[in-house]
Amino acid sequence: MNYYMELVYLASSVLFIMGLKGLSHPESARRGMHYAEVGMFMAIVGTLVSGKIITWEWIIVGIAIGSVIGAAMSIFMPMTAMPQRIALSHAFGALAAVLVGINEYIEKGFHQEISNGLMSALGFEVLFGALTVTGSLMAFGKLNEMIKGAPITYKGQNIVNITLFLFTIGMFIYLIFSPYDATIFYTMIALSFLIGIFIVLPIGGADMPVVISLMNSYAGLAAAATGFAIDNKVLIIAGSLDGSSGFILSIVMSKAMNRSFANVLFGAVGSPQVDTSKLHEDRPITRFGIEDTKFVLEQAERVVVVPGYGMAVAQAQHTVRELSDELEKRGIKVDFAIHPVAGRMPGHMNVLLAEANVSYDQLYEMDAINPTMDTVDVCIVIGANDVVNPAARTDKGSPIYGMPIINVDKAKTVIVMKRSMATGFAGIENPLFYEPNTKMLFGDAKKVMQEIVAEFKKN
Ligand code: TAP
Repeated sequence: MNYYMELVYLASSVLFIMGLKGLSHPESARRGMHYAEVGMFMAIVGTLVSGKIITWEWIIVGIAIGSVIGAAMSIFMPMTAMPQRIALSHAFGALAAVLVGINEYIEKGFHQEISNGLMSALGFEVLFGALTVTGSLMAFGKLNEMIKGAPITYKGQNIVNITLFLFTIGMFIYLIFSPYDATIFYTMIALSFLIGIFIVLPIGGADMPVVISLMNSYAGLAAAATGFAIDNKVLIIAGSLDGSSGFILSIVMSKAMNRSFANVLFGAVGSPQVDTSKLHEDRPITRFGIEDTKFVLEQAERVVVVPGYGMAVAQAQHTVRELSDELEKRGIKVDFAIHPVAGRMPGHMNVLLAEANVSYDQLYEMDAINPTMDTVDVCIVIGANDVVNPAARTDKGSPIYGMPIINVDKAKTVIVMKRSMATGFAGIENPLFYEPNTKMLFGDAKKVMQEIVAEFKKN
């Protein structure tokens, strides 16, 4: 039976790798997800036929509860809550790794069978698992606005965090040579839970993408260590893939947010506090209506649409595609500029635009579109705010200073569609709204878009 199990595990590992490869391009992403789903199904079947199952009752109860929760989450959770859902999944996955680790420790400890190698794997598993549990729950709380989004900082915070981390690593090393010291083992777990909270506290809401991808990586590493601890190859492979892809995503995200790699590794991203007294300055803005918008768009040769979180909230992607079709019918070139952290999860805008059948040829990444922004006649900013905030380029005191943005202010005319003058996720004022070439078109993105499309369809 073990021979078949290894074969099934091998096949599921290959499917995981094909799944990741598929995810590297929007066109093949859906297929990639299907490969990964089949791979995961096979891994579960492989485990069930392994011949190592002692009693089925708890497994059946677990599968039933997990399936009900999983189905309910996929049916009822809106797309806009996807990052919170991902944060919760990391927390649960990591908790599973910690519980398996504790169970192994108790069982092998009872038989005095903990080798140095096994203790290394178990220690790594529970340490990274525990800090991922609380770190992910903190990220969930911040994203769900249950915890203050602004960085919570105090003097000497980095020193406290690094000391705590080194102290915990010291316990881990001690345990490798004295594995039966249960007090140290459980103290190390308790401290790891604390580290998870401490490392996310100073990270501001706008930096959450980096935290989420980092937690993804930690959860994967904990799962890989679990694989070593319980001698399960598919867990080692899947955990390593998860850990390394999460790590690469962390690097991509930190680059997109202009955070240094050291910041990412230690999670000590201390963005300065936001000076809220500067919000909503009493400066004039230019308001636009539907007809003004239609008039300006009709005169354009090249239009660039920059979507953001508000487009996701309004579910305006289909209407945006309709507008793009109307403009293209009139010989106006329409492109879409995608910022890597627009929305609330990596690839958020790509997913929505793909759902609305926007052609991949029209999608441009920030680095590709920015050099051409001064040739754009009209830039439509739909529900985006932080990712087009020029303060990131000019205001050294801004919490997002240094974050690359889509340079929409360089376009001849910028039309910003949003409901009010409210701030975006980072909670900061956007000087773009006051620029002479910026026109503010207030309203729900979908409703406003529908009105513009209707106006175009009239003739
Ligand atoms: P945001 O800066 O969050 O701005 C979104 C804007 O959409 C808001 O200012 C809001 O203004 C507007 N809006 C909301 N609902 C709307 C509706 N129904 N119709 C029209 N407008 C609506 O979005 P962004 O520019 O996409 O930037 C993303 C931010 O989230 C960044 O700070 C990023 O770091 C952070 N973040 C990103 C991720 C990932 S991985 N993408 C994960 C977590 C956090 P009104 O209220 O005035 O309408």
